[in-house]
Formats: sequence, C-alpha cells, structure tokens
Amino acid sequence: PEVPVRTRKGRPTMPNDQAAAPPALVAAPGPAEHAGGCPVRESRTPDGTMGWVVSGFAEVRDVLTDPRLTSAPSTLAADGSPDPRIAGLTALGLPPETHHYFLNAIVDLDPPRHTRLRRLVSHEFTARRIQLLAPSIELITDRLLDELPDHRDEFGVVDLVEHFAYPLPVAVICELVGVPEPDRHLWSDWSRNLTAGHTERLRTATPALVRHVRELIDRRRAEPGNDLISGMLQARDDSANVGPDSGPDGGPSNAAMSEDEMVSMTLILVLAGHETTAHLIANGTLALLTHPDQLALLHQDRTLLPHAVEELLRWCGPVPSARLRYADRDLVLRGVHIRRGEAVHPHLDAANLDLRHHDRAKRLDLTRKRAAQADHHLSFGYGIHFCLGAALARLEAAIAFGRLLDRYPGLALAADPGTLIPGDRPVGWELNHLPLRLG
Ligand code: HEM
Repeated sequence: PEVPVRTRKGRPTMPNDQAAAPPALVAAPGPAEHAGGCPVRESRTPDGTMGWVVSGFAEVRDVLTDPRLTSAPSTLAADGSPDPRIAGLTALGLPPETHHYFLNAIVDLDPPRHTRLRRLVSHEFTARRIQLLAPSIELITDRLLDELPDHRDEFGVVDLVEHFAYPLPVAVICELVGVPEPDRHLWSDWSRNLTAGHTERLRTATPALVRHVRELIDRRRAEPGNDLISGMLQARDDSANVGPDSGPDGGPSNAAMSEDEMVSMTLILVLAGHETTAHLIANGTLALLTHPDQLALLHQDRTLLPHAVEELLRWCGPVPSARLRYADRDLVLRGVHIRRGEAVHPHLDAANLDLRHHDRAKRLDLTRKRAAQADHHLSFGYGIHFCLGAALARLEAAIAFGRLLDRYPGLALAADPGTLIPGDRPVGWELNHLPLRLG
C-alpha cells in the first residue's frame, strides 16, 4: 500500500524506500551497473503487483516530471473500492480517525490540489527563511555535542545515532513548527514509536499529537509568532480555486489552509524530515570516517562543507527511492509499454551513481565541481514534489558535520563498518547505531 509512512523492517519513512540497490560504503560494487543495463525494467513491487524500476539519472528525472504518472493511486481505484493505502496505515497502528491526515499529505497529492497546498507553505521553506533558524540549530547542535561525553559507555564508546543524529532533526522541526520546549517530547516520542513500530503506543499517541497541534494552532491564532504554524495561519493563495473538496475537510473557501491541512502538514514534516536527516548525518559521518583522505580535506578547508553535503547526499543519500508513481493511462516510457495502474519505481540512489551522468560515479569525492550544480544528485527528488525541506536539511547537515568535526577532531569509529549496516544492504542507509570514540 502506498502510504506516507511505509515500513521496512518496521521502520517508517516517507518515500518508498524498499529494494533499491545501494552503493558500497567501504569498497566493493554499487548499483551503477544500471548505467550499462536497462534504465527502465520490469519488476514486482513489494506488494506483489507489476511495476517498473527506473534507474538512470535522465530517466528518473523524466518519471518525476511526467504528468501521466500520478502520486495519488486512489484516483485510479475503481469507484467504491477502498483506498489501497488504508491497510498500511492501520498496520502501523495509526487509528482510523487520523488516516485522513496521511491520505491527504502533500506528497500524495497531484495538481491542482498539490499546487495549491505547496504554494501555501513554500514561503516558509525558502533558503532565506530557513537561514533564520541557523542560530537555533547551532544551539541545539552544540548542546547535544556538549552532552555526548556523558553518554559514553564503560569502554568510552558513544552511539552517535542515538545521542546526536536522531535527536537533532526532531528538535529542529519543533523549533520550525514553534513547539514549546516542554512539549517537544511528544514529538520525539511519536517519531520514535513510528520508527520502532510500537503500534499500541501509536494508537493513543497519534490522536494526542493531533490534539496538541490543534492547541498550538489555537494559541498562534490568538498570539501569532514567527513560526511555521503562524505562517500557515496567515498564508493566502487567492489564485487557488480547485473546487470545494480541496482540503481534507473541504469547504467552499480554499484560499487559506484549513485546520486539517495544517495538522496534516505538521505531521508530515516529522515523517519526511526526521529520519531522513538523521540518516544523512549518520551515513555521512560513517562515509567520512571510512574515507580518511576526504575527511582530511574537510578538516583543512571548512568552506568545502556545502559541497561535501551535496556529495554525501549523492553518494550515501538517506532516501534510496522516491515514492511510487502510477500510470494514469496506457503509455510508453523510453520505448517501454506501461499499462494504466502499473507502478513506476524511481531509484534515486541508482540515478545518483549513473556513469552516464558522473565520472567515476562510485567514488566519494568532496571536490567534485558538479557538486555546486543543481543536477548533482536526485536525493531530494525532482519536479513538483522536490523536497520541501531541502534547504533545512542542507543547513542542518552542514552545521552538524562542521560542529561535530570542530568539537571532536579525533573522532574515530569504534566498530567494524561492516557490522553496522543492518540487513542485506552494503551501505548504511538506515544505520541503527554508530559507535564512536570521541578522541
Ligand atoms: C519530499 C528527500 C528532509 C519535507 C521529499 C522527496 C524526497 C525527499 C526524495 C520527494 C519524494 C517523491 O517525489 O516521491 C529528503 C531527504 C532529506 C529530507 C534526503 C534529508 C536529508 C526533509 C525535511 C523536511 C522535508 C527536513 C521538512 C522538515 C518534505 C516534504 C516533501 C518532501 C513536505 C513533500 C513535498 C511535496 O510533495 O511537494 N523529500 N527529504 N524533507 N520532503 Fe524531504
């Protein structure tokens, strides 16, 4: 089922994240063989239905901008049949009364509903707006780094995932949304329960979080601030006219966001922005520690940081694939016939390692000139669903890597990298632990 919160090994992420071939972290082969193979090929999707894997850089970009491919499979379902994503939401433990927040998430909408919603929130996510968060992100980062030594075990080892990569992004999302400090545990607990697959806890925690967001909205209505909720309350898009069912709770006026839409958006930010950023920080740290020549470059020249973040996003990005797209009619894609309703699976990681797009694509090289260009990687997707939080993720990652290296220049791995990577993946897309010595 296509839901904003799929689980693989019980771990939810927003984009579909299954079955993508990752690059090798330490050495060994990666998925760049797609460059020589067929960039659009038949496969079965995880739910057993027929689908198409797309792996070339140009081909993935085509798919992500093709208006014949929908992000909203429910629009293709026969009249009266249930939305195929509901079973997935139920399996996660999300109670039925909260499903509509996820079914109407921005990432699952097509134009014109998507266009309207995106316009209403995008001004809150511009690079300039996000830059205003830098002092708070630095403060949160420094506080977590200060506390790292207290988390060392009896062997002097600290887990960077648990004590840095994981808590940082959720704290930053709370800062962005405007969640007061004492309530932030509600958000990190909810996200942790999703990650851990604690379905029982989610049954009560999800409605509680929704109530909490509604309280925040009420508070900001009475007393506007500088936060996302205040921004959403003030947002107007007078060009929006997409019909009475434009929002989850409908209504004739769609120039402003409905309260349900605001709740949906805030929940989606946690799903889309927490684990993704956490994994980028963890994957990137592991990549740097296993490439001492690249790490040395970064130590010599911190101005390389923004480039380094782009190259790490390309080489070990945390989202191996975009969400499935579905053909809304019979169509031909790069000579391949795809039938209405069939799924297309855009492999971002394989696209990033396409040898037709990059020289020595499998090599991690922080000095690549292309890293300054917008077509360096597809890790944030492409087209209308391009990651809304990209500026935030970039800023956060640059601060996290920079401060971590400043503070602990002697940082070292405390485990064999091969043992850190869960399951069948040679790269740590989803590192559960990153044991380090602080030096
Ligand atoms: C969409 C990746 C961080 C919010 C996406 C998509 C990708 C992506 C690949 C497109 C999915 C598709 O087209 O199927 C990432 C990565 C991140 C990250 C790699 C971190 C390194 C964030 C953060 C936020 C965020 C921090 C917000 C706090 C969103 C939202 C969408 C999105 C709301 C949906 C946009 C739309 O549908 O118009 N992200 N993301 N992401 N991301 Fe991110």
